[in-house]
Amino acid sequence: MEVKSVNTTAMILGLFFLISFVAAEDPYKFFEWHVTYGNISPLKVAQQGILINGKFPGPDIAAVTNDNLIINVFNHLDEPFLISWSGIRNWRNSYQDGVYGTTCPIPPGKNYTYALQVKDQIGSFYYFPSLGFHKAAGGFGAIRISSRPRIPVPFPAPAGDYTVLIGDWYKTNHKDLRAQLDNGGKLPFPDGILINGRGSGATLNIEPGKTYRLRISNVGLQNSLNFRIQNHKMKLVEVEGTHTIQTPFSSLDVHVGQSYSVLITADQPAKDYYIVVSSRFTSKILITAGVLHYSNSAGPVSGPIPEAPIQLRWSFDQARAIKTNLAASGPRPNPQGTYHYGKIKVTRTIKLASSAGNINGKQRYAVNSASFYPTDTPLKLADYFKIAGVYNPGSIPDQPTHGAIYPVTSVMQTDYKAFVEIVFENWEDIVQTWHLDGYSFFVVGMELGKWSAASRKVYNLNDAVSRCTVQVYPRSWTAIYVSLDNVGMWNLRSELWERQYLGQQFYMRVYTPSTSLRDEYLIPKNALLCGRATGHHTTTPGPLSEGSERF
Ligand SMILES: *[C@@H]1O[C@H](CO)[C@@H](O)[C@H](O)[C@H]1NC(C)=O
Repeated sequence: MEVKSVNTTAMILGLFFLISFVAAEDPYKFFEWHVTYGNISPLKVAQQGILINGKFPGPDIAAVTNDNLIINVFNHLDEPFLISWSGIRNWRNSYQDGVYGTTCPIPPGKNYTYALQVKDQIGSFYYFPSLGFHKAAGGFGAIRISSRPRIPVPFPAPAGDYTVLIGDWYKTNHKDLRAQLDNGGKLPFPDGILINGRGSGATLNIEPGKTYRLRISNVGLQNSLNFRIQNHKMKLVEVEGTHTIQTPFSSLDVHVGQSYSVLITADQPAKDYYIVVSSRFTSKILITAGVLHYSNSAGPVSGPIPEAPIQLRWSFDQARAIKTNLAASGPRPNPQGTYHYGKIKVTRTIKLASSAGNINGKQRYAVNSASFYPTDTPLKLADYFKIAGVYNPGSIPDQPTHGAIYPVTSVMQTDYKAFVEIVFENWEDIVQTWHLDGYSFFVVGMELGKWSAASRKVYNLNDAVSRCTVQVYPRSWTAIYVSLDNVGMWNLRSELWERQYLGQQFYMRVYTPSTSLRDEYLIPKNALLCGRATGHHTTTPGPLSEGSERF
């Protein structure tokens, strides 16, 4: 009797600890995605789209800070496929990044289960297919990460929260677009612009007097876009995971790969209004209109379509007006244990300049003259399995060379915990955007002209926005600060898809000699293996815990 009672108590205690352990762990959300081809006709012409669970665009992912997202992706296409998660940091876990350099493609007819954690993150992001020109056929969708319950958000809960995916679009099949580039050509001018997968008539429904959040991402291939709503001001509240100073704008420039949240209030006479998206700084202007529909609307859209400001200066000024709301709660970057990024000593300055050229008579693009070519094995797997000869960690200079472009599997070695200044120099006549996987960075400055050490005088060292995708205006520079606190192999790329595909990208290897799980996770046990990693083993015998050794 006595013994039994003790056992029961022990059992109850054991259960209690088990339950409290489970409760203390971050929640899991499970997804099963089937990627297929399907007919779509966003520009009124039937074409082959890439659907996720039958949808174009794909389903929204709604997560909460620190959620674990377990996404089992089945590839029913006739080509290898990967999804990448723009803005999801994949803390210590670049294996999940879903780009060529980190993850083997999912072969046709096979599946791979991604395990992502949205650790310490909030905000608006998106996912997209990263290989070839799949992005030109769909396969993208929105990711929203809400603050945890009880963490205050610096604005009242909106009456509705809408995904607004905008992007330029081609009627041409993704394989034909890719073939044009493979054959040495360039990407043609797009055929139109889509809003949530529609070339016209996309509608947002609102009720009078209420306020709504719009999460706008540019998922297109090459054009900066301007977004505006007739007669309605938009209050900017969040940019790629940072709550911003709440500035009202009549229109918003959204460069390729960027995400913004705005609030709009239904405070105008009840009717329908134009939602307008147009291409930026192009000689021919593409434009599409959707509808903002009041529930008690007295009539259809009317009046002139609102115009975008045309000056580059306006866009510059808007970009510089985007600042962090330092009073907002929630996870905020604290590089090296301080919230004052402006006080940290920069340990390395990297300057990156793009250029265009030819290799073997074909159009190519480069970063510091290095034009990226993938090899047969993901770089991260080559590192993990210590396979020599896949790449060389010093294969791209960290300053522009002004030389002719050359082919290389470019990887830049950087030190874990370095605090790095990166200056993007744009000597070309187009707006560019750059994205760094695995990180968000502080956008400390952007100006017309050539960067020099004196340019640092205009840096914002107090409330610059922290984000993952930044524009660089024509013949201008943009400077960022990034705290290299996430070990792994991370893609730094042009978001202009032609340029990315033809070499304007490289990998940043954030390296530590430590093999502790505190610094980097093990390769996932279900990792697909390919190239020279085929036949290696992902399983490590014995229990592992924080602080265990990797090898
Ligand atoms: C493929 O899906 C099955 C479940 O249907 C799962 O057990 C398996 O782990 C998945 N494969 C990979 C590589 O994630």
